[in-house]
Amino acid sequence: MLLGIIILILVTATIIFLSISFYITLYGSPYSPTPTKAVKEMLKQAEIKKGDKVYDIGAGDGRIVHYAVKNYGADAVGFEMDPFIFFIAKLRQWFWKWKGKIYRKNFTKHDLSDADAVLCYMLPRTLKKFQKKFDKELKQGTKVISYSFHIGDWKPKKIIPKKGKINKIFIYETT
Ligand SMILES: C[S@@+](CC[C@H](N)C(=O)[O-])C[C@H]1O[C@@H](n2cnc3c(N)ncnc32)[C@H](O)[C@@H]1O
Repeated sequence: MLLGIIILILVTATIIFLSISFYITLYGSPYSPTPTKAVKEMLKQAEIKKGDKVYDIGAGDGRIVHYAVKNYGADAVGFEMDPFIFFIAKLRQWFWKWKGKIYRKNFTKHDLSDADAVLCYMLPRTLKKFQKKFDKELKQGTKVISYSFHIGDWKPKKIIPKKGKINKIFIYETT
């Protein structure tokens, strides 16, 4: 009887998690981790200084915020909408001592005006939608680094070309 209840709870929780993930995939961008080598290049291109406010607007397992804190001493914050992926990010922080703040939140509900750098890996149609928010909130001189995809009709300051398994990296700076 107890085993039956536990199985029922686990199956229900899995269905809820998967439904939310499916919704997020439709709403925005599905989970796919940026290779660590690319993360390090993105952070280098962001020219982060100690104490800078760095956002990963869809944090995934939290690797970008982790390296932003570990390698640059940034005040790094990640938002992750998907509860399952968020749980994985928290597990990494607990067990692997990964650094940075990660919140289970839709980043569109957060004011990004204090950002020194914004990093992202999202689909082009999603980035196009978010461009308005960036235009409205980001202060002048904010670095925006996008893995794989360009942001709407913004003109990149620089593009790091695809190299092996590492996709293009688009580097922007708000004016
Ligand atoms: C392609 S993954 C990138 C993960 C991580 N940034 C990386 O580079 O390894 C995009 C992530 O953004 C999350 N996401 C999509 N839209 C979001 C939103 N509006 N707010 C917070 N997270 C979002 C998805 O759940 C997914 O985990």
